[in-house]
Amino acid sequence: MSGARVAVVAYSGGLDTSCIVAWLKEDWYGYDEVVAVLVDVGQEFDLEESITRAEAAGADDVLLVDRKDAFAGEQCARAILTNALYEGKYPLVSALSRPVIAGAVAEIALELGAEAVVHGCTGKGNDQLRFELAFKAHYPGVKVIAPLRDRIWTRDEEIEYAIAKGIPVVQTASAPYSIDENLFGRAIEAGVLEDPWNAPPDEPYALTSEPGTAPPPLEVTVGFECGLPVSIDGEELSLAELITRSNRVAGSYGIGRIDMIENRAVGIKSREVYEAPGAIMLITAHSALEDVVLTKDEARLKRPLEQRWTELVYEGCWHSPAREAIDAFVDSTQQLITGDVRVELRPNAVVVTGRRSPHMIYAAGLASYGTGETFPHEAAEGFIRISSLETELHAARTRTSSRA
Ligand code: ARG
Repeated sequence: MSGARVAVVAYSGGLDTSCIVAWLKEDWYGYDEVVAVLVDVGQEFDLEESITRAEAAGADDVLLVDRKDAFAGEQCARAILTNALYEGKYPLVSALSRPVIAGAVAEIALELGAEAVVHGCTGKGNDQLRFELAFKAHYPGVKVIAPLRDRIWTRDEEIEYAIAKGIPVVQTASAPYSIDENLFGRAIEAGVLEDPWNAPPDEPYALTSEPGTAPPPLEVTVGFECGLPVSIDGEELSLAELITRSNRVAGSYGIGRIDMIENRAVGIKSREVYEAPGAIMLITAHSALEDVVLTKDEARLKRPLEQRWTELVYEGCWHSPAREAIDAFVDSTQQLITGDVRVELRPNAVVVTGRRSPHMIYAAGLASYGTGETFPHEAAEGFIRISSLETELHAARTRTSSRA
């Protein structure tokens, strides 16, 4: 090795990480070589433009890594199996992609023998945790640099710096949102959204239409195998294709627009707007199929574990034994989650209208109020006599002691 100091940047193509590439070569970091790694997790980006911008910022190399299918097959799949909704609403969009992006960056850094890995997160968010924990899981002991935590730059200062360095700038003051996107959805924050009283304007949405403009209601059948969606209306698709298709069809009904105040790991409450039409449609359908297949106790155990899993992933612990242990439980519950769920798409709503599976534990004969039912009514009396023993003893005890 030449002894050159190398830094590898998790590069998004945007203003922050373009400036970061340039800063790493400034005296205050002083790297000899900077490698920008752009990881494709299904976001929209202009490849040519991103490469040009990184090169203008001084990158010695710009690498594009396609992790879209891996992201679908691993993170998105697990989120569906786990019905992952942070604080009951948010399908973890950004939280899922970070371990993938950071993993790709750290692997390249390890191969190159780089001194440092670099991300563009600030000190206020969740993403710094997700990036850094994943960097360290893939490259133990690596040095991590977070330039936007080392020094607070305003957007205007960054724009000025970029212009001075000859880095092409597209951001303008009229596009003040901070947007993160991937196959599983989009996260939109900042700008007018910082005031929680302000209604979200229509402009930052890209995957969803205003529900008022939705087409007539539409029935869609989602087919599942071992917990994962495999087909839409009988057409088999890869998971990445299926999520893309779901985004398109559910997005036209404005499904999956989520406006929430969320609790960040660092203790800040933040106003977030998401659009994740496919994720909401698929999690709703998956959960409905579980309803007819899982036993009562499996379902009761799974719900709190789902929540714990979601919090772990939200707070950056994708690479953790606890997450893996929950996965093992989830996997054991998914063997029989095969079947179909019919949903009706309506403006702003995905409504489950039917579910069927060869493995249903739902038994019409037991549940029916009609003829042909098989429920052992005579046994109910004994069941209740025994179930009520303690209630009776406690009631008798209370009466005696209140008389005394
Ligand atoms: N608050 C969300 C999360 O922690 C979204 C963060 C994504 N970043 C952004 N620039 N919008 O997952």
